[in-house]
Amino acid sequence: MMRDAEPKVIRLQDYQVPNFQITKTELHFNLEPTETLVTSKLQFERNAKSENKSAALELHGQDIEIQSLKINGEELTDEQYQVNPESLTVFSVPDVFEFECVGKINPQENTSLEGLYKSRSMFCTQCEAEGFRKITYYLDRPDVMSEFTTTVEADKALYPILLSNGNPIEKGELDNNRHFVTWHDPHKKPAYLFALVAGDLSVLDDTFTTSSGRDVALKIFVEPKDLDKCDHAMTSLKNAMKWDEDVYGREYDLDIFMIVAVDDFNMGAMENKGLNIFNTSCVLAKAETTSDTGFQRVEAVVAHEYFHNWSGNRVTCRDWFQLSLKEGFTVFRDSEFSADMGSRTVKRVEDANVLRTLQFAEDAGPMAHPVQPPSFIEISNFYTLTIYEKGAEVVRMIHTLLGAETFRKGSDIYFAENDGTAATIDDFISAMSKASGKDFTQFMTWYRQAGTPVLNVADNYDAENQKYTLTFTQSCPDTPEAKSEDKKPYLIPVRLGLLGESGPLPLEISDLGISGVTDTVVEITESTQCIEFSNVSEKPVPSLLRSLSAPVKLQFDYSRDQLIKIMSNDEDGFNRWEASQQLCVQVIQELMSGRQSEQPVAVDPNLVAAFDRLLKDDNLDPAMVANMLSLPSESYLAELAEEIDVDAIHQCRAQLKKTLAEELCESFAQRWQKTPATVDYKADAEQIGLRSIRNMCLSYLVASGQEQWFGVAYEQFSSANNMTDQFSAMSALVHSDSELAESYASKALAEFYQQWSEEALVVNQWFGVQASKAHPNTLEQVKALMEHPAFTMKNPNKVRSVIGAFANNPVCFHAIDGSGYKFLADQIIELNALNPQIAARLLTPLTRWKKQTQQRQALMIEELKRIQSVADLSKDVYEVVSKSLV
Ligand code: TRP
Ligand code: ZN
Repeated sequence: MMRDAEPKVIRLQDYQVPNFQITKTELHFNLEPTETLVTSKLQFERNAKSENKSAALELHGQDIEIQSLKINGEELTDEQYQVNPESLTVFSVPDVFEFECVGKINPQENTSLEGLYKSRSMFCTQCEAEGFRKITYYLDRPDVMSEFTTTVEADKALYPILLSNGNPIEKGELDNNRHFVTWHDPHKKPAYLFALVAGDLSVLDDTFTTSSGRDVALKIFVEPKDLDKCDHAMTSLKNAMKWDEDVYGREYDLDIFMIVAVDDFNMGAMENKGLNIFNTSCVLAKAETTSDTGFQRVEAVVAHEYFHNWSGNRVTCRDWFQLSLKEGFTVFRDSEFSADMGSRTVKRVEDANVLRTLQFAEDAGPMAHPVQPPSFIEISNFYTLTIYEKGAEVVRMIHTLLGAETFRKGSDIYFAENDGTAATIDDFISAMSKASGKDFTQFMTWYRQAGTPVLNVADNYDAENQKYTLTFTQSCPDTPEAKSEDKKPYLIPVRLGLLGESGPLPLEISDLGISGVTDTVVEITESTQCIEFSNVSEKPVPSLLRSLSAPVKLQFDYSRDQLIKIMSNDEDGFNRWEASQQLCVQVIQELMSGRQSEQPVAVDPNLVAAFDRLLKDDNLDPAMVANMLSLPSESYLAELAEEIDVDAIHQCRAQLKKTLAEELCESFAQRWQKTPATVDYKADAEQIGLRSIRNMCLSYLVASGQEQWFGVAYEQFSSANNMTDQFSAMSALVHSDSELAESYASKALAEFYQQWSEEALVVNQWFGVQASKAHPNTLEQVKALMEHPAFTMKNPNKVRSVIGAFANNPVCFHAIDGSGYKFLADQIIELNALNPQIAARLLTPLTRWKKQTQQRQALMIEELKRIQSVADLSKDVYEVVSKSLV
């Protein structure tokens, strides 16, 4: 934290190999809440690849009270070294030596949740990206990989379980009721993958036999009260282990794999070698307390962290500019895993929604950066949707361009060539290029340019010659690092098909040698490019960018008839959903312009009819019907707008929902009635689909404003045997704008808290639903919730569910008196001192002022400036706030 000067910008172009390597790392922890002693013995040698053969030893370190420093057993004198707030320099060292340091740290007071800290009654660590330097002086950079041996010593009664990476090799009793365990990790790793846990934990045990017949012990450690919520994570882990063997040929490489659940955690989870540490919200799941989305998140995050064992740990990153090498690839892997475990199309719709709503907004905001950023001030600020989600889309495009088989060959080459090393994005691309013979030069634009490309498409049908032409024009808007006109065209894979009157038309593209198929991928590489189809017997409706084959904004001037045609006939399920969304967007935009010109328009009856057909369609996957009936979110509508009118978006979207609910009341009721409530809860695609269509119908029925449905929702709320049904019903009541619904909603909210007050994760959901409500009183309610005994600023999950939910409340955050902005700024200033990572993340909504109305812009900027003027601003907040004010 403490800064004297402007924080330094770190640049990829300045990368230099480390001057030293650390062959062996021996750590000893004497755990005490406020005074933990860390002893490190590090075997250093000069790096043969470094040009500076006489460089001083410069180590990272922060907030460590040095007790002793030795080189080759000799205590250093004061003249031999210098300590700065973030480093330690030993001026003169031999070529090979042992460095020993005893340092004192204070886990109890560590509220940043980086380094070693206490979460409730346990000790745990979070070292990625640069937290290890808060534990001991070290070369805390991912290209320094070392073999770790760790001894953990603590009070035996308070901390019976002592864990670290690798295998336990020794344990024993000590004086004063203390004990110790020594762990050895045979795999060299960078310090960011180090982990330690100590606490009074219960364990769920299982085993997995790998494809080569080795038995691996699987252990999930949780607080005793949560032991009944670990089964889903364990099943997900075993599925993930099997999937990585089947799909990527990757076997696990230690005899033990451990997961620990902690309450206080900045992110979702962390892939520490052999000892993954998880936010409780991403491990614990039980039908009664966890909704379907919660179950799916646990499955995805357990898999994600497990998959890092190869994509991240065996092959790690050379430097943090390569972050997407592990994160983009691993998100792609976990997303394909989830697709294989559940419904592929539904998963694609969910991913596309996140990408288009949140990542596109990031790409259009002040923190926009390429998938491989050229510079950063604080790396924690770059664990972004761009690195993760857009990075995954870029890997997905490679998969699309190469096909599954060649992609797998490339992946095999990548792992074989880089195993045990710290690699770069170029190493990954080089492996894919070797496998396919494809030239990736132009493709690299996806890694090096920020911004969401716009792909404009126009068509022309020449009936006489039966020729159909699509003209593609691409561009990419200005972003902080480059002007639009200086940007290079992308290689955009466009999956497409043509729809005729009675079904898909055969595609003949003689230029590309394509014929006899109804679905193909064309590569758009030019700023403007035509694709010509021959023997097209009728004017087709083009189905473009199927499955969202590239992370671009597609523009095609579809008529409503064309959209309805795609919605009901396309072979591609994703594009059927996409057409339903576009149809809704068109109708909402029409309502908005009617509202602006004070000439109210009616909801297009064609949309009502299309929704009615959907509701009556028994052949479609119920989960997809629910997705198609789900109106585009207010944030997506805001993302699409040139200038955001938050009230118009909210009201017109609500008006559409209400109109659909009223006009199709009977169809919604019928569909609701004939969809059975699920009995024995399973989080499988089939049951999830049934619950989602049923609850979607209920939310419309409640939105119709008829009191009988409030009663029905309340009844479902009280009798539900699972959290999905219980929470959906309560949520529908809370979000109803009818005054008649209020008494039902407040009754449900009170009872819900009564029922679940002992379940922290459920209480968080209860916080969240109240902070998301569009109501003039919400800010007052949020302030009251912050006084609730269950709330604390020190727990990121609580902060996210109250303050984060409010900051993303599309209406209340933007209250025209600026109260929402001021409130958020006050919280950021408080959090800046407690937990800079969380403070910087929470700041995001305030930085997105560019598309707001003038009046709101001024209010937002005023609050950003107020934050900027705070003394002792963390690097994290400093970077976000200063970039958002240029
Ligand atoms: N590597 C982790 C993941 O993607 C991300 C992570 C967990 C993280 N905790 C963090 C990143 C703290 C920065 C800071 O799975
Ligand atoms: Zn990850």
